[in-house]
Amino acid sequence: MTVHFIGAGPGDPDLITVKGRKLIERCPVLLYAGSLVPEAVIADAPRDALVVDTAPLTLDEIVAHIEAAHAKGRDVARVHSGDPSIYGAIAEQMRRLDALGIPYEVVPGVPAFAAAAALLKTELTLPEVSQTIILTRTAGKASPMPSGEDLATLGRSRATLAIHLSVRNLGLVVRELTPHYGGDCPVVVVYRVGWPDAAVHRGTLDTIRAVVKAAKITRTALIFVGRVFGADGFSDSRLYHPQHRHILRPGKARAKV
Ligand SMILES: C[S@@+](CC[C@H](N)C(=O)[O-])C[C@H]1O[C@@H](n2cnc3c(N)ncnc32)[C@H](O)[C@@H]1O
Repeated sequence: MTVHFIGAGPGDPDLITVKGRKLIERCPVLLYAGSLVPEAVIADAPRDALVVDTAPLTLDEIVAHIEAAHAKGRDVARVHSGDPSIYGAIAEQMRRLDALGIPYEVVPGVPAFAAAAALLKTELTLPEVSQTIILTRTAGKASPMPSGEDLATLGRSRATLAIHLSVRNLGLVVRELTPHYGGDCPVVVVYRVGWPDAAVHRGTLDTIRAVVKAAKITRTALIFVGRVFGADGFSDSRLYHPQHRHILRPGKARAKV
C-alpha cells in the first residue's frame, strides 16, 4: 500500500502528468483538495472508489482516512493543486506518515505560475531583463512570513515575482514593491488559469489595484510583477547565436524526416 501525493495541475484536467492520471484511474481511495482541484480531474476514478473532498477536513481527519486505507491495504491518491511542493501542505502529512510507517511517493504537477506563464505566452527569464524568478506570498491570517522574506526585502532583487495567495493584499504588494520596481512596472494578475472562467488582468504597480477592484477578484489569482511582462527590446539569448560555440556546435544539424 502506498500514498501517492499527486500534483493535479492548476485546474485544466489535461494538465496533469500521465503518471498522475493513471494513479487516479486505479487507486481505490482518492482524497482531493476540492477548493482548488476541479471534479473533472478526478472524474476517471474507479466507480467504486472512496472519493473524499478534504477541503473541509482537519489534518487529523485526513490522516484517519489514510490510516483506514492502510489497514485495508488500499492505495491512496492524495490529489493536490498545481505542484504539491509549493504551498501544498504536504510536509505535515508526510511527517505523520513517516511516524506511522506508511509508505508514500510524490508525483509532481504543473504549478499555477508555469501554467499562467504559458497562458500569457511569456518567458519569465529574459536575457538582461530578469534571470531569476521568486515564488513567494504575503503573510496571511494563519501564515506569517519568515524574517527576511518580506516583499520589501525580496523586491531589492528586482527579479520576476510570482506572488501567491495575495490578491487580497494587493495594497501591500504595491506599497512594498513600488520603491524598487517603479510605479510603471508591469503587473499581471492571472485569475484561475486552467479553469473555464480564467481571466488575465494587466496594469502597472500604479494602476493594478483599480484594475483588480473593478474585476472583483478576491481569490485564486497569481500576481506577476516584473519588467519581463512589458519587455520587447530584450537581447536574443547567446545559446543560438552563430558565434557561440558549445559541445554540440559546430556539429551536424540532425533532423528526422
Ligand atoms: C495553496 S496555493 C497552491 C499552489 C499550487 N500548489 C501550485 O503549484 O500552483 C494557492 C495559490 O496558488 C495560486 N494558484 C493556484 N491555482 C491557481 C490557478 N488555477 N490560477 C491562478 N492562481 C492559482 C494562487 O495564488 C492561489 O492563491
